[in-house]
Parts: sequence; structure tokens; C-alpha cells
Amino acid sequence: MTDLAAVPARDLRALVRELRDTEFPWTAATTYLNNSSIGPIPERTRLALEAFNAKRTAPHLLPDREVFNEIKAAREHAARLIGAAPDEIALMPNTSMGVNVAARALPLSRGDIVLLSDREFPANVYPWLALEDEGITAERVPVTSRGWPDEERILERLRDPAVRVLAISFVQFSNGYKADLAKLSAACRANGTYLCVDGIQGIGQAPLDVRDVPVDVLATGGQKWLLSPWGSGFVYVRKDLIPAMEPAYVGWMSYEGTDDFTKLVDYADALLPDARRFEVGTFTSQDQLGMRASLGLLLEIGIEAVHQYTTALADPLLAWCDEHEVRVVSPREAPHRCAIVCIAPPGAADVHRQLKHAGVICALREGAIRLSPHCYNTVEEIGRVTEVLESALEGGAAA
Ligand SMILES: Cc1ncc(COP(=O)(O)O)c(C=O)c1O
Repeated sequence: MTDLAAVPARDLRALVRELRDTEFPWTAATTYLNNSSIGPIPERTRLALEAFNAKRTAPHLLPDREVFNEIKAAREHAARLIGAAPDEIALMPNTSMGVNVAARALPLSRGDIVLLSDREFPANVYPWLALEDEGITAERVPVTSRGWPDEERILERLRDPAVRVLAISFVQFSNGYKADLAKLSAACRANGTYLCVDGIQGIGQAPLDVRDVPVDVLATGGQKWLLSPWGSGFVYVRKDLIPAMEPAYVGWMSYEGTDDFTKLVDYADALLPDARRFEVGTFTSQDQLGMRASLGLLLEIGIEAVHQYTTALADPLLAWCDEHEVRVVSPREAPHRCAIVCIAPPGAADVHRQLKHAGVICALREGAIRLSPHCYNTVEEIGRVTEVLESALEGGAAA
């Protein structure tokens, strides 16, 4: 395959055919616009998983060293994706575990307030609500009239010294609103508030570099935009914070010295100084190896290229919506726009069914049709969506 790393961002369009043929061959028969639900595993990842699992049938073919090298490479790839250092990355089996690392290990105390935007995905709500037993309040800031996080109101609330954490999704699951993390991060820095980000709907489709936009904790699963297996994911924890963060659960490899398997009962006093202290026990190694392979592809393509390409894909759909007065639920302008486009035609549930009948796979979320194209989707596929919408409107979809 072409060396994607050598191709400038704007040229991803020229590579899409090749990407579909080599990495996503099933796209010849299906219009899959549902990466916000589950991202497909590229061919290179399937092959890597098959080779690994073949060796796994006879474990002597898989020395510890080889498995741990893969785990290390997975952390390194995750770090590169967001501009972090590998020792700021702990591998996690999903987003929820990473959010729980933040909720349980940040130095919070009774009377503190955790600020959430209302209508967040529950993975970024329940771990914070669960702190109420400890006298920590999870306060939900009402959304704007458009249903988006109200960043101005959040900024106002951040001035309250009792607000110790802002926990927000990089991208909202039900409308594709991409938070202005640069603005929120600056306000959090100024107020000494921890910024915790649920990254799963954004990382892999929208660029984020934690060197430019400081974040304290960022949690993501691999199963959506990272095109990775279930059971993969990671949490980023800003280096300076790690020593102050005591994990609620500790694993046998969270401590100094356990990398020497010949001396495991020489118990250590000290947790590892890096983010590995948050990893609990034996890894979901095949899943994290799969994530390493998929991140390899995304890093070759470049997330900026994915972002530019996928946002441009939606232009004809947005133009069609304007022409037909169909409500677009997602933001259209930078910095809030991203690959996810949610639309609410009359009778959205029925239109969603019609899309499914026509072989277009997408989701219905909170009353809107959610279309979430990735690097392998095409403008023709978006055209298929508008064709179905057109005939649904003509036929008068049932509300
Ligand atoms: C914003 C957001 N967070 C988290 C999740 C999933 O959490 P987990 O990876 O723990 O299953 C989803 C979707 O499934 C989501 O949209």
C-alpha cells in the first residue's frame, strides 16, 4: 500500500479507494456510517490478531517478552496519537475504566464539585455521581437551546473555587458537538481545576495534542474511532499529577519490581511512578495488540487528514438539509464541527428504518439520525443517504 505518512492531509481523497480495497474490503457491499457506535477492524489488524491468536493456541510460541513488547508498543502508539509521553498512558479495556481512574484517584475531598455538562453519555456521568457517597457533588450544567454543552455557563461555573473537576466529552455522542477544549483547558488552568475528558467520540477522528491543549485525564476505549477491538483502550494521565493519584484498585504489576517474574514475593512498597500504576493485572493482550495495529494505520493517515476529509464529506448532506429545511442537530462551524453529523428529519425513526432497508448503516440517538463517516467512507455513500432522505420526504415518513 502507498506510504500514507508521505501523503499530505488534503490528499486523503485520492487514497480512499485503495484504503477500502486493502483495509476495508467489505465496504464494496455496505454503506457503513456508524463509527460512533462501532468502528471496523482493518485487515491489517485482523491479520495481526489471527497471527497472535494462532501463537496463543500454543503459549510456548508467545514468550512474555514478545507480549510485553506489544503492550509497550500499544502505549507508545496511544501516546503518539495525542502528543503524550508513553509513561503517561495506561492501557484500559474501555472508556469507563479510565473515567473511574479519574473519579477515584484525583485528590478530591468532601464539599468538592465535579462539573458535568447535562446530557453526557452515561459513562462520563455515573462514575462521578457515585462520588456523592463521599460528599462530592456532581453538578450538571444545563445544555444550550440547541442541546449542546453550554461552554459560557461552564466557564462561569469554573470561577467557583469549589469546582475542582470539569468532566466533559471531547465530542458529544448524540449530536457530534466537539468541545472547545482549548478554551476550557485555559479556564481550568487559570482556576486550578482538573480537566477530565471522555475522548471516545473524538480521538481518532479529530486532532487533539495534549502538549498544546493541556488535559489532566483523558479516557478512551478503542472500539469506535480507533478501529480497534473490544477490550482495548487507554487512559492518559498528565505526568505531574501521577504521583498524587492513588489508584482505588491496584494490580500486581502496579508496583515497582514486578517486572522480574523470578522474584515476585519481594513485595515492594512503592507504586510505579508512571501511569502503569493504574493498570490492574494481566492485560487484554490480544485486544491491545489489535489496537496497536489499528493505531499504526491511523498514525500513517494522520488524524488531521481524517478530520479534514470526514468533515468535508458531510458538505453535500448539509446543503441538502438546508434546501429541504431538515434540521441539522450538529454544529457546523469550527471548532465544534467534526465527523459526526446528526439530522432530525420529520419521522426520524421511520427514516432511519428506511436507511437500514436501503443498506445504509447508521444510528438513531436521542431523536436524531447519527451519521458518522470515517477515513474509508466516500462522497457517493453520503449521496446514498440523501437519496433515501429524498424519497422518505416525498413519501412522507411516519412521525
Ligand atoms: C461519549 C461516550 N463515552 C463512553 C462510551 C462507551 O464507554 P465504554 O468504552 O466504557 O463502553 C460511549 C459509547 O459507547 C460514548 O459515546
